[in-house]
Amino acid sequence: MPVNKLPDVVFRTRVRDESIEGPNPYRWEDKTTADYFAGKRVVLFSLPGAFTPTCSTYQLPDYEKLYGEFQAEGIDAIYCISVNDAFVMNAWGKSQGVDKVGLIPDGSGEFTRKMGMLVAKDNLGFGMRSWRYAAIVNDGVVEKWFIEDGLTDNCPTDPYGVSSPQNVLEKLRAGESVAA
Ligand code: BEZ
Repeated sequence: MPVNKLPDVVFRTRVRDESIEGPNPYRWEDKTTADYFAGKRVVLFSLPGAFTPTCSTYQLPDYEKLYGEFQAEGIDAIYCISVNDAFVMNAWGKSQGVDKVGLIPDGSGEFTRKMGMLVAKDNLGFGMRSWRYAAIVNDGVVEKWFIEDGLTDNCPTDPYGVSSPQNVLEKLRAGESVAA
């Protein structure tokens, strides 16, 4: 069952630190759910994996392109989360040229599991990953879910539409975001 309040977890991120010498000037930085979500109205979207085709061709770049239109509807930030570690998420963001959408690494899947969205993708050799969804989240509380149909382990298909930025934006503009 999806939750209404985001779970409190610690995300293990990697941030650039110019004081570190050498070819890999990054350090660990722990960020909490509150660090990302407290006091803000945000769109959170989640997907099965960094670098996968639908996520890289449509979902992430389209959220990035439409960022300004979400801002015009009162959205303060857009976050993309995936059950991938910080190294993978950073590499994906860099390869996509993303600088508006924030990428959140949920490498252990703890956040996704506590959201009720962790599914097996062993049929693809992926292990446990996130079902595809989006949510409008206000100060850590889900205002409205956009969960793709058919949430199930080892789903043979990968539905994409409900959680697209175009659909979420349309619902925001129609004022349909308040009932969860
Ligand atoms: C895709 O984004 O197209 C995708 C996601 C998970 C598995 C395979 C493909």
